[in-house]
Amino acid sequence: MHCGSRDLLKKNTGTAEGQKKPYINKCNADIVQIKVILFKGVYVYSNVVLNTGDEHIGNPLNQTMLLSPLAERNWEDLCLVLEEVLDDQSHRQLFALELGSGTGQHVIRFAPKMPFVTWQPSDINEESRDSIKAYIAATHAKNVLQPVHLDASEPWEKWAGLSNNSCDVVVAINLLQYSSFKTAQGVFNGAGKILRQNGLLITYGVYAINGIITPSCNEQLDAEIRQKNPEWGLPDIDVLRQLAYGNEMRMERIIEMEEFYKCLIFRKLEKNQTA
Ligand SMILES: C[S@@+](CC[C@H](N)C(=O)[O-])C[C@H]1O[C@@H](n2cnc3c(N)ncnc32)[C@H](O)[C@@H]1O
Repeated sequence: MHCGSRDLLKKNTGTAEGQKKPYINKCNADIVQIKVILFKGVYVYSNVVLNTGDEHIGNPLNQTMLLSPLAERNWEDLCLVLEEVLDDQSHRQLFALELGSGTGQHVIRFAPKMPFVTWQPSDINEESRDSIKAYIAATHAKNVLQPVHLDASEPWEKWAGLSNNSCDVVVAINLLQYSSFKTAQGVFNGAGKILRQNGLLITYGVYAINGIITPSCNEQLDAEIRQKNPEWGLPDIDVLRQLAYGNEMRMERIIEMEEFYKCLIFRKLEKNQTA
C-alpha cells in the first residue's frame, strides 16, 4: 500500500499560482520562500526553514503566522467532510469549538465555507494562539472568535468558561496522536459535557485498530511520534469508541481520508438513549 508523500514541501514543488497549495518560489540551502494562498486574492509570503515542523510566516500585518504544511494539504478535504456532516443543520446558527487549533489555517478556511457556524479556536500553546489571531486578522474572518487558552486534558469546567450543552460541534484535528491519553480522556469527557444532545465530536488523524497499526508508514509515524514523546502515539479507535460510550456519545461513522487518515464522527446521545 502507498502512503503518498507526507512531505508537503516536496509534494507541492511547482504548484502553480492560483492553486490553494503552497507555491515554492525559490530554494537556497535550507530556506524556501513560499506563497500561501489563503483565499483568492488573499495570500502571505513565507520564508520557510525546511525540516523544523511548523514555520514562521512574515505577513503584511507583521504578526507571527505559523505554517503547517500538513494543514495546508488536508484542510480542503476536511472542509468537505464538515460541510457534508453539518449540511442538515445549515439552516440554523451552530457553535463549533476547535481543540488544539495549532496554526489557525483550518479554522480560517472553514469559516467562509460554513457561515452558519461560529468558530471558537483554542490551543494550549501561546505561540499557536498568536498565529491564529494573525490569520484571523489577515483574512478578516467574520465568524471566527479570538482563540482561547484551553488545555483539553483538563476537566471541562476549566475549558475557557464554556458551559454545559453549549456547543454543536467539537473538532480535534491531529490532536489525539500528538498528545497523551490523558488528553484523549479529557477530549471525550469534555465533549460529552459541552456538546448539546445530538452534537458532534469530529476527530481527524491516524489510528490503530484493535491494537494493530497498518500500513507500515503509519507504524513508522507512530514510532516517530513516540520518539518525540513516549506518551504520544496513534490512539486506538476501539479505545476511543469506549471513551465515547463512557461519556454519553456513540461512534457514528468512520470516514476514510487521504493517506490512511480517518475522520471519526461521534454523536452525543439523546437523554432517552443513555438511560
Ligand atoms: C499536531 S498539532 C495540530 C494542530 C492543528 N490542529 C493542525 O492539524 O494543524 C497539535 C496541536 O494540539 C495542541 N495541543 C497539544 N496538547 C493539547 C492539549 N492538551 N490541549 C489543547 N491543545 C493541545 C498543540 O499545541 C498543537 O497546536
